[in-house]
Amino acid sequence: MLLLFVLGFFLCLLSQCTSKDKGVLGPIPFPKDNPFNAEIAEFGKQLFFDKRLSLDNSVACATCHVPSKAFTDGKKLSEGIDGKLSMRNAPSLLNVAFQHTLMADGQVPTIEMQALVPLRDSAEMANNIHQLLIKLNSIKEYRQKSLRLFNKEMDAYVLTRSLANFQRTLISDNSPFDRYYYKHEESAISKEAKYGWKIFSEELYCTQCHPAPYFTNFAVENNGLYADYTKIDDKGRFRINGDSAEIGSFKVPSLRNLTLTSPYMHDGSIEKLDDVLLFYSKGGNKHPNTNPVISPFYLSKEKRYALTEFFRSLEYVKLQSN
Ligand code: HEC
Ligand code: HEC
Repeated sequence: MLLLFVLGFFLCLLSQCTSKDKGVLGPIPFPKDNPFNAEIAEFGKQLFFDKRLSLDNSVACATCHVPSKAFTDGKKLSEGIDGKLSMRNAPSLLNVAFQHTLMADGQVPTIEMQALVPLRDSAEMANNIHQLLIKLNSIKEYRQKSLRLFNKEMDAYVLTRSLANFQRTLISDNSPFDRYYYKHEESAISKEAKYGWKIFSEELYCTQCHPAPYFTNFAVENNGLYADYTKIDDKGRFRINGDSAEIGSFKVPSLRNLTLTSPYMHDGSIEKLDDVLLFYSKGGNKHPNTNPVISPFYLSKEKRYALTEFFRSLEYVKLQSN
């Protein structure tokens, strides 16, 4: 009996099953000025789900970043206060800790700073931060938590640190694909999904911008979504730096949990994954700034199915218990 146990243990080491639950993305990069703290993250989570963070108590962060939809909202453009439409499609917040910049034009450097944008955006939560902090400090539980965890009343620092601490814990890195590719569990994904990965990584050029394990290179790129931006307000990174070479450049999104995050692209203009594949197979829409790697290719229905199965194998959401 003891022998079997010892043998089992060594086999286990050999097959790396002791590290089965370790993530493939590496340690979460918590910054020095906001290290992980379970209580602060819990406080951030409470704030994330609280509609009182909006001017009229109708919209929470989680209204547009819904856990079961990989923290997106399934809408083309998000709906904020009074049903107003936000400028863009809500991105997934899973693995946001690993992002190098935030927002589709890569304009915001930290998750802490990002939180101030939706809180104040007139089409999202429409708040004035000063008024909001008065309101939050009048909530006894919040005031007490802030005093206990940060030694001061709620201010912008407490609010943004807590929200960011929570958001960095939103990790998705144990998908069937990860178990197959990184942990060598042959049966974790289907034959079709394996074929899809081969097409994605060896036949097509997708990994140039969407490489494993994050499935994004974190860069801002023009993937040829539109040929002409003259009548389109949202010109991507050009909005930020006025550089005409960056008209139509948007942050490369991760392809993890893609099957939960329809519709696609910064403006939610493509509803189905199959249509994204058809879009790329046409070589996109030619804009002078489009990255030249984007070029036409033929994909049979069978190959499109295999690619979709591969994308499905990248789905993994550990549901947050509210
Ligand atoms: C009304 C819907 C809405 C609400 C409410 C909302 N968001 Fe968002 N969120 C969006 C949209 C749309 C974007 C994309 C904005 C862009 O790219 O310019 C976004 C982007 C983000 C990003 C950037 C992700 C990335 O990878 O670039 C983070 C982080 C984020 N939101 C967190 C939050 C937090 C925290 C709250 C609450 C304080 C919040 N959001 C409230 C819709 C919303
Ligand atoms: C030159 C860089 C580049 C290459 C190569 C590339 N993409 Fe993309 N991809 C992007 C960018 C940038 C976006 C976001 C565009 C936007 O938001 O408007 C994107 C968006 C997507 C999306 C939508 C994701 C979402 O959440 O909205 C999918 C799916 C996708 N790409 C799949 C692919 C596939 C499949 C290939 C290979 C055929 C590929 N990409 C090649 C840059 C690239």
